[in-house]
Amino acid sequence: MVERYVMSIDQGTMSTRCILFDHQGRLVSVGQREHEQYFSKPGWAEHDPAEIWSHLRRVVVPRALEGAGIRPEQIVAIGIANQRETTVVWDRRTGVPVCHAITWQDTRTSGYVEELRRTTGDDFFLERCGLSPTTYFSAPRLRWLFDHVDGLRERAGRGDVLFGTMESWLIWNLTGGPDGGLHLTDATNASRTMLMNIRSLTWDDELLAYFDVPRAMLPEIRPSAECYGMARALLPQVPICAALGDQQAALFGQTCFASGEAKCTYGTGSFLLLNTGTELVRSRHGLLTTVGYKVGDEPTVYALEGPIAVTGSLVQWFRDRLGMIHSAPEIETLARGVEDNGGCYIVPAFSGLFAPHWRSDARGVIVGLTSYITKGHLARAVLEATGWQTREVVDAMNADSPQPLRQLKVDGGMTSNNLLMQFLADVLDLPVVRPMVSETVSLGAAYAAGLASGYWPDLEGLRRNWHRAAQWMPTMDPARREAEYENWQRAVERSLGWART
Ligand code: G3P
Repeated sequence: MVERYVMSIDQGTMSTRCILFDHQGRLVSVGQREHEQYFSKPGWAEHDPAEIWSHLRRVVVPRALEGAGIRPEQIVAIGIANQRETTVVWDRRTGVPVCHAITWQDTRTSGYVEELRRTTGDDFFLERCGLSPTTYFSAPRLRWLFDHVDGLRERAGRGDVLFGTMESWLIWNLTGGPDGGLHLTDATNASRTMLMNIRSLTWDDELLAYFDVPRAMLPEIRPSAECYGMARALLPQVPICAALGDQQAALFGQTCFASGEAKCTYGTGSFLLLNTGTELVRSRHGLLTTVGYKVGDEPTVYALEGPIAVTGSLVQWFRDRLGMIHSAPEIETLARGVEDNGGCYIVPAFSGLFAPHWRSDARGVIVGLTSYITKGHLARAVLEATGWQTREVVDAMNADSPQPLRQLKVDGGMTSNNLLMQFLADVLDLPVVRPMVSETVSLGAAYAAGLASGYWPDLEGLRRNWHRAAQWMPTMDPARREAEYENWQRAVERSLGWART
């Protein structure tokens, strides 16, 4: 019998990947291509959506298929996971983006966002979309585009241009582009725009009016797991059966299906999500209420999320901008060359600070420098920044949720760093566990597509595919942990307010 597979497309901040999974949830083949990062002004971060679509079509999908000698007819369904909040606007007739996509890391809207908080306050927004205004979400960016691209607001009102996050852009192109593409999004991605009502999962009239966003440009909101249409422009016989924001996809791929289960994905940034079941929990400690996933007609599953903007990208900065290492894994060797951080702390507030602080006026600081400090100490401080930022989010989770976390499931590129994973277990004082398949973003999108297409029968079946590959237990002396945490908090204090907005 011919083997069949599910195809997962992960459109991330740094690259686009296509992974094929088999029935046991095992990775069979990968195609990947990085795309250009545009940092044309301080605080700006853009991508070229046309480049991303071209990579997917010409390189990423063909590589995944050809690499394993798999034919298109062996693919049952496609699931898409994507960087969230990144804002794309394109012409409905030509399919050409009106400008680069403004990514989730971009802080150009910080002045506008501060004004929203001052004039309207957080509650108006929290009540409707579960989010308070920050530079992180899509709606302020859309407003910025209306204010800076000539005639865009009028074109949007006539429905001549379309808005979407990356999954909308790819689905529109995959299903036919100007020649009849589907314009849709899923509830997890829509929950990051600040335009969707978090209870009804529909575009919220008051929020649309507030941001002056015409309905005509918005995609239809659909469940995360459901067959939307065929990928006519690339694999005409294959249906697209899922779309999820990448972090929600990782929650799904880690099989955190029960309320109280949490995962943290360590990539460019890091994102800790706690499944809160069908209950919508409001944070009082700086976390976001978001849609976890929605499978077909089943009730919506919600999550609390603590996003951290800069973790893996700090290692990249250390490598590419400072030239301290040649490759990312080298940081572990460098850091192991010293006993500790030598008193040095780095707060990587490159895009302000996300959870639980939400301060767009924060900027990066390095504190505790003395002539004793070496590259090795800096390497430690780089890795430890990820540990401490996670600790702040876990503290907020524990304060918000009725049950404290008992373990943390981790995934993503940084989890291959054993020194960091041990440090994480130490500063959280929790077991940290990593599954066999660490590509959980891709796996989650595949699982959702496989469920919707009948490739996998139910959530329990998926759970059985989860196997532990590694576990780290806390060993740090509690007094040292608390003393160092206090140092970290003092460093954070110094980063706040550095940028005047
Ligand atoms: O919210 C932003 C997040 O979705 C980006 O994830 O892995 O592409 O950096 P990643």
